[in-house]
Amino acid sequence: MPNFNEPLTLKSGLALKNRLVVPPMTVVLSFHDGAITQEEVAHYKRLSQGSGLVITGTANVTPNGKGWPGELSVASDDMIPGLARVADAIHEGGAKAILQIFHAGRMTSEKTIGEQVVSASAVAAEGDGFETPRELTEAEILEIIEAFGAATRRAIVAGFDGVEVHGANMYLIHQFFSPHSNRRTDKWGGSLAKRMVFPLAVLERVFTEVKTATSPFAIGYRFSPVEGTDPGIRLEDTLALLEELKKLPLDYLHVSLKHYARKANSENYSEKPTLVYLHEALSGSNLPLIAVGGVRTRAEAAAVLENAELVAIGQQNLVEPNFAEKLLAGQDDFVTKPFGEAIYDLEMPHPMLKYLEKRYATPEKKVL
Ligand SMILES: Cc1cc2nc3c(=O)[nH]c(=O)nc-3n(C[C@H](O)[C@H](O)[C@H](O)COP(=O)(O)O)c2cc1C
Repeated sequence: MPNFNEPLTLKSGLALKNRLVVPPMTVVLSFHDGAITQEEVAHYKRLSQGSGLVITGTANVTPNGKGWPGELSVASDDMIPGLARVADAIHEGGAKAILQIFHAGRMTSEKTIGEQVVSASAVAAEGDGFETPRELTEAEILEIIEAFGAATRRAIVAGFDGVEVHGANMYLIHQFFSPHSNRRTDKWGGSLAKRMVFPLAVLERVFTEVKTATSPFAIGYRFSPVEGTDPGIRLEDTLALLEELKKLPLDYLHVSLKHYARKANSENYSEKPTLVYLHEALSGSNLPLIAVGGVRTRAEAAAVLENAELVAIGQQNLVEPNFAEKLLAGQDDFVTKPFGEAIYDLEMPHPMLKYLEKRYATPEKKVL
């Protein structure tokens, strides 16, 4: 089991000083058009003390891929100077900086993007308030793939050390992989292999941009291993996807789990936590795994590192920005209040506090 302080150099040559990661967390601190605010720069600097790697909140690659007002955007060159300030803030804090890039697909609203939401197929997400999307045309699919490439170029110019392609948490890439949201019968859907075509095409396009980087630039991929819906992604599907991802020059995989010890909803994979099966599948692949979900203490962070090379810590870092430093220094006086109460103990910018309050009030509905 790696110790928190153990460095790790990724395939691209990007050197991480330790095994602690801040996972992507949207905190709605950007302006309405995605431009960066001073509060956001200060937020990232605060978050970057201690951890070796900070992944930003997700940034939309096209205007109709925007999930919320106040989220980051990498959809135009105009965003580069502001994004450069975020990358600088993370570097000043002492961590490497990765920009998470995404398209929200059907998990947004007409009110947010000013037009009907889009997805792989015209099927609404399950749950209250989700809108029925319009099925993307082939030309639009190709434009979105191109937009992921352009976003990667902008991340390089802005000085980031890498991008994380957001294939998790029910957003567009996940929607193409899921049999719930992808009912297409063309080359972009149908069989399990065809449901992988879009995620793999996005990655292929992203890799072509890496050549333009003059220093090590890492590419990661985040995925959700299972879905609760029927039809939905099962662990069997994800294990097949991992076999394809293993063939690519990825720097890391990042599994999105609400809790690191959670078990899957597949009969064949119900004995051990999902994370154990994933890590076993990756063994010998030289593809490090970042795992996340519910880490609030040293013991929990250590438990994650039994089945992953890197541990990501989200909520606890938000309410305790020096959590990573304490872990590394061997101090154990952690904030133990529930997240929804602890947020009031910090001076948070107003929109962030309101957003976290709302998130805490309906934790099960949040699919970030
Ligand atoms: C406020 C907040 C915003 C989040 N935003 C994102 C996001 O933009 N992209 C993403 O992939 N995950 C997002 N997540 C999920 C986290 O990356 C992480 O997987 C989740 O919070 C579980 O880890 P934790 O228990 O350590 O917080 C968000 C989580 C929180 C709490």
